Amino acid sequence: MTPSPWIARWAPLIAPGSTILDIAAGSGRHTRLFLGRGHHVTAVDRDISRLANLESDPGVEIVSADLEDGSAWPLPARRFGAVVVTNYLHRPLWPALFGALEPGGVLLYETFMVGNERFGEPSNPAFLLRDGELLDVAREGGLSVVAYEATMRSDPSPAMVQRLAARRP
Ligand SMILES: C[S@@+](CC[C@H](N)C(=O)[O-])C[C@H]1O[C@@H](n2cnc3c(N)ncnc32)[C@H](O)[C@@H]1O
Repeated sequence: MTPSPWIARWAPLIAPGSTILDIAAGSGRHTRLFLGRGHHVTAVDRDISRLANLESDPGVEIVSADLEDGSAWPLPARRFGAVVVTNYLHRPLWPALFGALEPGGVLLYETFMVGNERFGEPSNPAFLLRDGELLDVAREGGLSVVAYEATMRSDPSPAMVQRLAARRP
């Protein structure tokens, strides 16, 4: 599956050779993107079946974890050169995501926002960013924002999204 153009665009912001955390990695489209750029990637998802063909790759660590069931954060004390999240939102994770960034580490985030209801799923407010929310939480979390946009994405299908690239000082 094609990587998100936003993630591909800002990937060069990440320090060469640094480690990447791909949250709710799905089929691993961004895990593959960053592997191809020479990074070691830790891919986390509650359903790791779609990552099976990456299992033997020495550049990948696959972590099976439910991030919403109240269990402890699965990667305590681990820090990464970048945290990547796309098409996934679970608000209680903000502190863990920010805390997983090493100094200078980059957060690349893209997910659905209010207004997406007109295009289909997700339409549940729990899975939709509020107006300006991604920008607000990044600033409140002490990140330095490099790029942010709230926009209508047309590919692979119309959707309302917010996108962020930010760095931990
Ligand atoms: C829409 S997919 C996005 C996948 C990937 N980030 C991408 O954009 O290609 C959402 C992913 O979140 C994962 N997910 C949903 N709830 C989860 C949970 N509670 N814990 C961990 N992963 C979860 C799903 O298994 C799925 O792979």
